[in-house]
Amino acid sequence: MTDNSATFDIAGYGHYPVNHQPLSIETGPDSLRLTWDDGHESEFHYLWLRDNCPCPGCVSTLTREQMFEICDVPLSIRPLEAQLDGGYLHIQWDHDGHVSRFHPGWLRSHCYSEQARAARQWQPEIWDKATIETSLPTYDYTAMMQDDTVLLSWLRQLRDTGISLLQNTDTTPGTLQQVAARISFIRETNFGTLFDVRAKPDANSAAYTNLRLPLHTDLPTRELQPGLQFLHCLNNDATGGESILVDGFRIAQHMREQYPDDFEALSSLPMDFYNKDRHSDYRFRGPALVLDGQGTVIEVRFANFLRGPLDVPADQVVRHYRAYRTFISLTREPRFQFEYRLVPGDLLVFDNRRVLHARQAFDLQQGHRHLQGCYVDRDELLSRIRVLERTL
Ligand code: OGA
Ligand code: ZN
Ligand code: ZN
Repeated sequence: MTDNSATFDIAGYGHYPVNHQPLSIETGPDSLRLTWDDGHESEFHYLWLRDNCPCPGCVSTLTREQMFEICDVPLSIRPLEAQLDGGYLHIQWDHDGHVSRFHPGWLRSHCYSEQARAARQWQPEIWDKATIETSLPTYDYTAMMQDDTVLLSWLRQLRDTGISLLQNTDTTPGTLQQVAARISFIRETNFGTLFDVRAKPDANSAAYTNLRLPLHTDLPTRELQPGLQFLHCLNNDATGGESILVDGFRIAQHMREQYPDDFEALSSLPMDFYNKDRHSDYRFRGPALVLDGQGTVIEVRFANFLRGPLDVPADQVVRHYRAYRTFISLTREPRFQFEYRLVPGDLLVFDNRRVLHARQAFDLQQGHRHLQGCYVDRDELLSRIRVLERTL
């Protein structure tokens, strides 16, 4: 019964284990109610069921994309007959004689009861200094490269915790290409496919000097900030140059609780971010704290050194600066900061749309410092996780 993709029971490639069986159906005017063997109840509307019919007439067996359009049946569509057979829900519709068959594992996974929707809601694992120091997700490079189970575990940690350390990474320059290929495409930018972080005479970014870099996200100047950032340490024997990481979701949580007006200001007033170079001029305007429709913080956009002049209504300027100062002050508090000194072979990977990163100034009289970096978007991470989950 779990074999579904071969028989086109499901409009996709996923596999849905049948952990529960529906026991009974109760039909109402515009929806039916399934009661499952664990007592759970699912209401499915007739329009929703008809829309999700996985039959080869409704979903292309080649592309697994829907061909059926809901406006081609009456709004009042309902079953002539609905019954359970071997766990499947069979419906014969009162329109066109169409018949639909729904796989129980798929139905249960898509139940939209309040309880089921809440359980499906992704919850980040928010951290501060104390928690991350004892539980930094750490992986071995070779194991990750060779074993898809380790790869999946690493990627899930990145999704949920937003930070990880790969150790014993090959220090050959360019190794990041192969690491990123374990996930998917690199996000190329005007700084290159891979970028070399070291002090350069003709620096076009504060990153390419030996100066302290305050806490920031990379490329807040773009419509879509890169999702994952990789920093691969090839050499780090200069004095200074320690890395600092802060969970931006933790700072936002603290602000929301302790400084609600500052939180409201930073999540609603836009900021302008500029990246000026000789041959490019990127700008983006948006708030530092990005909320979804439910008011959950889903992104942090922040780099003090990449700001353009503030452009908000005059009566909001002081309010903005108050909130902005609060945010920076909080990121400077040691209780939120994870400090770590990269050693050659370390590869730090973090969610750049969530985790702020910084480095201390370094002194090149005493040695060298060379990191290589690249970006991979969040979409690529999540897609790779889903594909691995089909089989693992
Ligand atoms: C960067 C950066 C950190 C470092 O390149 O954007 O933040 O440790 N580098 O040099
Ligand atoms: Zn159909
Ligand atoms: Zn950076």
